Formats: sequence, C-alpha cells, structure tokens
Amino acid sequence: MKKSFPPNPLQKTLLKPRFARFWGYIGILQAFSFGGAFFIFERIDYMDFNILASKAIEAKGMAYAPYSNFHVGAALLTAGGDVYTGCNVESAAFSPTCCAERTALVKAVSCGERDFIAIAVAGGPDGADYCYPCGVCRQMLYEFGGDDLQVIVAKTADDYKTHNLSEILPYSFGAKDLGGTK
Ligand code: THU
Repeated sequence: MKKSFPPNPLQKTLLKPRFARFWGYIGILQAFSFGGAFFIFERIDYMDFNILASKAIEAKGMAYAPYSNFHVGAALLTAGGDVYTGCNVESAAFSPTCCAERTALVKAVSCGERDFIAIAVAGGPDGADYCYPCGVCRQMLYEFGGDDLQVIVAKTADDYKTHNLSEILPYSFGAKDLGGTK
C-alpha cells in the first residue's frame, strides 16, 4: 500500500465495535492478557485518502456541465467503509444544478447511509487549484458529517489537502441550534 502524504489521520486504533465493518484490507483483532485483566481492541485502517481522491477524480469524468464547463467529482466514505461517488449535474435553468458533493451525499443517504467519515473533492481542469465545496454543500455535509467530517480537496491522487469540516464551516448552524435531535 502506497504511503499517503499528508498522513491519513484516520489510520488509528479504534475502540468502537461499530467500526467492525470496513471497506478494505486490514482488520486485526488483538487480545492481550495482563495479570488477569483482559482487553480486546480492534485495529482498523481506513481507506487511504489517495484512494478516495482517485475515486473523486474518476467521478469527475461523469460530470454533466455544458454551461460552466467546470467538471467536479466527489467520493464520500461511509463509517461502514463504502464509497458513494457523485458529479455535478447542471441545468439550463442554472439554479437546479446539483454539485458533485450533494450528488454523492444524496445518493448515499437515499441508500440508508447516515454516518460519514470523509469526502474527497476534485474539480476544474488539470492543473487547476484545489476545488473547495461551495457554501451550500458545506451546510449539507454538516447535516450528516458534523464537525469532524474530513474534507479532502484533491488536485491529483497524491496532491491533496485535508480539513475538518469545522475548519471550513466554522460557527455552523445545525440540528443543535433547533434544540432537537436528528
Ligand atoms: N460545483 C460543484 O459541483 N461543487 C463545488 O463545490 C463547486 C461548484 C459545480 C457547480 C456547477 O456545476 C459548476 O461547479 C460551476 O459552479
């Protein structure tokens, strides 16, 4: 497995059993016995972000953007380890246009997914600067991803930056502000 740079912050030991199902490759149940005490924990290595970035770049190829000619792809990683991709889909009336990030999110949620780890976004022609999610997409990602969703903006599979959603959507508004639960 190629080493990703910057390092994938999700490659860490998790104690939560709900992470037992995962996309990839390494899951090691380790049991230790120390003087009568017994610990079990599970080590999960999530998909490398460069793989997620390459899926976003691939999804960009499906963009329907005859008006802006600005092609965007996104790849959304669920807590269960599945990936949903999306591209931007434009309309001649302009405002119905759906961004790549929301395409991926709506695909995933409509398949019953609610927990997300990361989203990779790739947009614009080769050599363009990093393409960040628009404000509307940041808000929709917050709805399901919360502050800790990892947002990966990729120029290539090896050239990307990662942010917590809270960095690019500070002072967020969400379910917490309505005093309700989701
Ligand atoms: N677009 C996205 O798909 N995602 C973004 O985060 C930024 C903008 C799309 C919408 C439109 O089809 C085109 O890029 C130009 O705005």
